[in-house]
Amino acid sequence: MPLVASEDRLKLLQELQAKAASCQRCELHLTRKQAVFGVGNPNAPVVFVGEGPGAEEDRIGEPFVGDSGKLFDKMLYSVGYSREDIYIANVVKCRPPGNRNPLPEEIALCQNFLIDQLQTIRPKVIFCLGKFALLCLLGYDGAVGKARSKSFTWRTIPVIASFHPAYYLRTPIKKSSGWQDLLKLQKLLKTLE
Ligand code: URA
Repeated sequence: MPLVASEDRLKLLQELQAKAASCQRCELHLTRKQAVFGVGNPNAPVVFVGEGPGAEEDRIGEPFVGDSGKLFDKMLYSVGYSREDIYIANVVKCRPPGNRNPLPEEIALCQNFLIDQLQTIRPKVIFCLGKFALLCLLGYDGAVGKARSKSFTWRTIPVIASFHPAYYLRTPIKKSSGWQDLLKLQKLLKTLE
């Protein structure tokens, strides 16, 4: 996909969103209430990539609006970002039933939506929230804790590896890693200004 001018990004994302809304490529369309495409600023300097919608996201149609999303928002605000500044997307756009992990074939069938979102926005940095984002974008299937200290790029865009916010709900002591990664993002964005 050629570079997309900043004024054309919103329209292109809306067209992709309409395609996702009627997508029937995998079985997840049978159980979803709606596809949860992505939300935020089409010219965002950073795109956060989660795993897939949960029950609340499936109901509302927006990524990260459930419990882990509320925590994620607080962490974002604490380092000076709000949802309007950034863009949030998931690896799969439809809710895996019972909050199970997305299956490899579901990820494979859905990943072009994420790739097109990232190619449209071409953010300065991609911030991976958890193992499925790392797997889908980088083919990395090691531990997230190990990935945090590594350097990655996706099509020349620097990638920061971080835990999924749901992990901090289960293991609050690990929240400090999340703050560290967000501070790393802040620093990196400053150097890329
Ligand atoms: N977890 C995710 O990975 N994405 C969401 O949108 C919500 C919860």
